[in-house]
Amino acid sequence: MSMHSTSTVSYPRADVDPPSGSLFPHKHLLGIWGLDPTSIKHLLDVADGYADQNRTANKNSSICAGLTQINLFFENSTRTLMSFEIAGKRLGLDTISMSTGSSSIKKGETLLDTAATLNAMHPDVLVVRHGDSGAVKLLSEKMDCAVINAGDGRAEHPTQALLDALTIRRRKGQIHGQTIVICGDIAHSRVARSNIYLLNAMGARVRLVAPPTLLPKDVDRLGVEVFHRMDEGLKGADVVMMLRLQQERMKGAFLPSLREYYKFWGLTREKLNAAKDDVLIMHPGPMNRGVEIASDVADDIDRSAIEEQVEMGVAVRMACIDVLTRGLPQRVNADKAEETKS
Ligand code: NCD
Repeated sequence: MSMHSTSTVSYPRADVDPPSGSLFPHKHLLGIWGLDPTSIKHLLDVADGYADQNRTANKNSSICAGLTQINLFFENSTRTLMSFEIAGKRLGLDTISMSTGSSSIKKGETLLDTAATLNAMHPDVLVVRHGDSGAVKLLSEKMDCAVINAGDGRAEHPTQALLDALTIRRRKGQIHGQTIVICGDIAHSRVARSNIYLLNAMGARVRLVAPPTLLPKDVDRLGVEVFHRMDEGLKGADVVMMLRLQQERMKGAFLPSLREYYKFWGLTREKLNAAKDDVLIMHPGPMNRGVEIASDVADDIDRSAIEEQVEMGVAVRMACIDVLTRGLPQRVNADKAEETKS
């Protein structure tokens, strides 16, 4: 329960009162860091079921009917915001999305005031994207409901790593033992960081390929192999994840020019020859064609999983919302009603 809760009504939450024997005993999803393989596997298993269900005519359910989900995005987003909204609706929640230009709201007091305001409306799920690392955690400390991190600064983007993992697991059978290469702007990428944590936890071999200026300062402590040349890093790769150059997060000169970047670190057919024949090509989007990836590689229908990643995003977000709301009384009552019917 938050220390400064403004609510007069308090009810058990997934964190306070998780269903007994819960395989995901966490109140929020703030990052992959701190999740054990059992919790990660549980989310992926639940998401796998939703991925199948989403391909049928019966995509919608009402297991979360009566619950309220707020999506609070302080940074731009297309696929993450849309998929959280679709995921909530498919489970029967009332979803409301609020986008706020990052310039109009600053961190500190204002963010906490926003948290108090939203908390007073008693949402059941709050999905937050924010430009500052750690902002989502700060906000979660003031909220009574489950909070999901939809990307904070350059820190974490847990649902992206989960959807990437689900895509790999469905295409390759397992994550364990796969050689997975993450290429590009790793220093500014919360996607890379969450993926490194998750893939290491699940037993993959993780390699990073980037110019030295685009590697994070703590790279030695991440448990990865580092390469600066694509031909070396891609050798024998099962999966290659390309990252966008996040120029909006770069202060100063990190690269000589975009043309030179493409020449050395852009993914082309020629460079892909070093990887396994059945290498899976991934990108979290948005893509800069001709900067970090060649168009024909991105559109390679046999090897590119980029659209599938988007599809898995809905399933993973459904799983996260489902699992985090399991302790709520509305859910318990709905589950009981289901049991009585059957
Ligand atoms: C990423 C993000 O916002 O962190 N996109 C996404 O969520 N699919 C990566 C990016 O912006 O490059």
